[in-house]
Amino acid sequence: MRMKIRMCQGVGGIIIITMVTSFMLMYNSSSGDRPSAPSPQSSPSSHRLHAPASAVKKPERPKKLPTWTLEGYTGVMDHKPLRMHCRTCALVTSSGQLTGRKRGEEIDRSECVIRMNDAPSVGFQQDVGGRTSLRVIAHSSLQRVLRSRQELLNVSQDTVFIFWGPSNAMRRDGKGHVYNNLKLLKQLLPKLKVYIISRIKMLKFDELFKNETGIDRKSSSSWLSTGWFTMAIALELCDRINVYGMVPPDSCRSPSRPSVPYHYYEPLGAAECSMYLSHERSRRGGHHRFITEKTVFANWARTFNIHFYQPDWKPAAGIIGMNISYTPTIS
Ligand SMILES: *[C@@H]1O[C@H](CO)[C@@H](O)[C@H](O)[C@H]1NC(C)=O
Ligand SMILES: *[C@@H]1O[C@H](CO)[C@@H](O)[C@H](O)[C@H]1NC(C)=O
Ligand SMILES: *[C@@H]1O[C@H](CO)[C@@H](O)[C@H](O)[C@H]1NC(C)=O
Repeated sequence: MRMKIRMCQGVGGIIIITMVTSFMLMYNSSSGDRPSAPSPQSSPSSHRLHAPASAVKKPERPKKLPTWTLEGYTGVMDHKPLRMHCRTCALVTSSGQLTGRKRGEEIDRSECVIRMNDAPSVGFQQDVGGRTSLRVIAHSSLQRVLRSRQELLNVSQDTVFIFWGPSNAMRRDGKGHVYNNLKLLKQLLPKLKVYIISRIKMLKFDELFKNETGIDRKSSSSWLSTGWFTMAIALELCDRINVYGMVPPDSCRSPSRPSVPYHYYEPLGAAECSMYLSHERSRRGGHHRFITEKTVFANWARTFNIHFYQPDWKPAAGIIGMNISYTPTIS
């Protein structure tokens, strides 16, 4: 215990100390559940998958290993690489586009369901489904995830968690406060599958953004969004990606668009388009280029097996906006 308390000096320290008891309770109450399935391929719903889309022929991704080892994701504590593969993924955004659309059942039928940050499913199941196979989380959302730990860190859901953050927060030498908190979390919930994006992989994601847009992420002082990491991870993980709740890149420029909340779980919060537009135009540090990123996703959807639902749309013919004559090599 003394050692654990010493580790609690990061931002989340105080919260984590107050949590120790409830973690233990939660762990005990779930320790009798079924053993964690080693592979997402054992999903019971695989026979109900969408037929593979033969229309979109995917180029070979040569570096993918036959064991489905994904390089660049490191297990917290054991430092093991992530082994996971899905034939069909539902990538569920956090957008208010999903509200009232009742796509939950369809989402849950996918072999793997991917969510982001602290987006909940309890209370929104009809619209966003209930299962979570992978959750990609920003360092800045760790506190919110811990606050909803009963639901989001539910060991019996067998979710894989991938955290991303700036390299100083993710250092493994005891000085990375996010990594320290993740280590503590893993000690408290040993069955939780917690991974971080390695420093080298983070640089690769920056390079991917630069290759796709010509923009240097660092010198434009913007941050890649969790959506960027999630889409790039999904490209490595999934044979087919069904994206739920992502608007086309140009949709906020249309004056007739209905306004929806940025997050389905914050109905009174900011509107989606005002977030996208203010970030895209911002020249201050720390913003995301949501619209630029979506332009890249639309371009990828011409080459890769990516499909957009709610709203349902397909990328227009021809490359929009930027030069992507090169083929993304994600690994
Ligand atoms: C945890 O997951 C199990 C299985 O999906 C579910 O039955 C249970 O209600 C969940 N617990 C919480 C607190 O969400
Ligand atoms: C970026 O482009 C360069 C030059 O084409 C290529 O060598 C590199 O692998 C690309 N990087 C990523 C992460 O796609
Ligand atoms: C796109 O980039 C490639 C290589 O980076 C270059 O050869 C080509 O001329 C560019 N095309 C346009 C339209 O800018």
